[in-house]
Amino acid sequence: MSIAEVTQNTHTVVQEDEETVTTRVDEILASYTGVKAELIPILQQVQQAFGYLPEEAMSRIAQFVEVPECTVFGVATFYAQFKLVPTGRNIIKVCRGTGCYVKGAPRILEETEKILGIKDGETTPDLEYTLETVACFGSCALAPVMVVNDKVYGSMTTDKVKKILDRKGRH
Ligand code: FES
Repeated sequence: MSIAEVTQNTHTVVQEDEETVTTRVDEILASYTGVKAELIPILQQVQQAFGYLPEEAMSRIAQFVEVPECTVFGVATFYAQFKLVPTGRNIIKVCRGTGCYVKGAPRILEETEKILGIKDGETTPDLEYTLETVACFGSCALAPVMVVNDKVYGSMTTDKVKKILDRKGRH
């Protein structure tokens, strides 16, 4: 797998200052009318632009659709699709389900954590990788399973982890 493949389907991650966030959010809002029903589509588009929902963006959105800020925060925290903190350009998911566990998933997670220097749920400081664990991918026959962005890797070994991450200069 090439680096291009590793990075395909990744999302933009942008950490901007407050003024830049407001400017970009206003550009997005320009294509909406400001009704409450637009809240979720707006949040989705803002997250697509930044890779997460910056706090100042949510305040601006609340003003725009004329709802209290706590409503916007409530929606953003209710739906798992929304992230309140920046996530990495590449999302690495390691299965921790029973099927994968018995086939060595703990070693796969440990090796991934060691190479990336982060724990489950964390993001590398350069915003390149976020590491997550998942209860089951529904691909137990391929155990142990790891997913890099949308690409599924089965029968994982610690060597395969090294090879996949090596292409991103992580090993
Ligand atoms: S337990 Fe890992 S894919 Fe099902």
